[in-house]
Amino acid sequence: MMRVGVLISGRGSNLQSLIDARDAGSLPVELVSVISNVAGAPGLERAKAAGITSNVVDHKKFDGRAPFEDALSAALLDADVEFLCLAGFMRLLTDGFVNKWQDRLINIHPSLLPAFKGLDTHARAIEAGVRFAGCTVHFVRPTMDEGPIIVQAAVPILSGDTPASLGERVLAEEHKIYPLALRLIAEERATVDGARVIIDGADAAMEAVINPPG
Ligand code: GAR
Repeated sequence: MMRVGVLISGRGSNLQSLIDARDAGSLPVELVSVISNVAGAPGLERAKAAGITSNVVDHKKFDGRAPFEDALSAALLDADVEFLCLAGFMRLLTDGFVNKWQDRLINIHPSLLPAFKGLDTHARAIEAGVRFAGCTVHFVRPTMDEGPIIVQAAVPILSGDTPASLGERVLAEEHKIYPLALRLIAEERATVDGARVIIDGADAAMEAVINPPG
């Protein structure tokens, strides 16, 4: 099974969704390493509770991005990580690091990319007056929040929404699409084709998320 590492910076609810899917038998990967760039990130406790080796690689202890990433790479090598998931990891990675992990590195972002890259996505979506918000799992490319899209989910923006209320509904979708995207990759059903990802059985896979059986 594919050996997966997860990089986090905080709460780790997306990490938890991967752990839960693995435990439920719907995510055929080995979760072998969780690394946080923030000491005391709550997600580290989730890793511990799930019996996954975790490490802190604190960016503040390094003089620049390159030495930070060297330490990150050493920890990943140590755990024999083959595939990497960013789950609320709030540091930008250098082109060198991203290119080294080309097509083996995915991210979840709380907007319908390519709209609303960057931070404060829900406030900006409400402010812009768009009718739908959502989330995206994509392969990472050197430019921030760009890269071939694997899975997206949309939620309507309601008239009374605040960034917090909208964020909660989007997060519930994040927890469905991150395990789905990783499963499609683990099952070798997601193929990068230029700027796009072709998914074998995409319609059925999405249907299972939108209308779960039972
Ligand atoms: C999630 O909403 C994720 O999409 C977002 O941070 C949150 C992390 O929550 N990621 C980004 O904004 C990346 N630019 P979590 O720690 O509970 O998974």
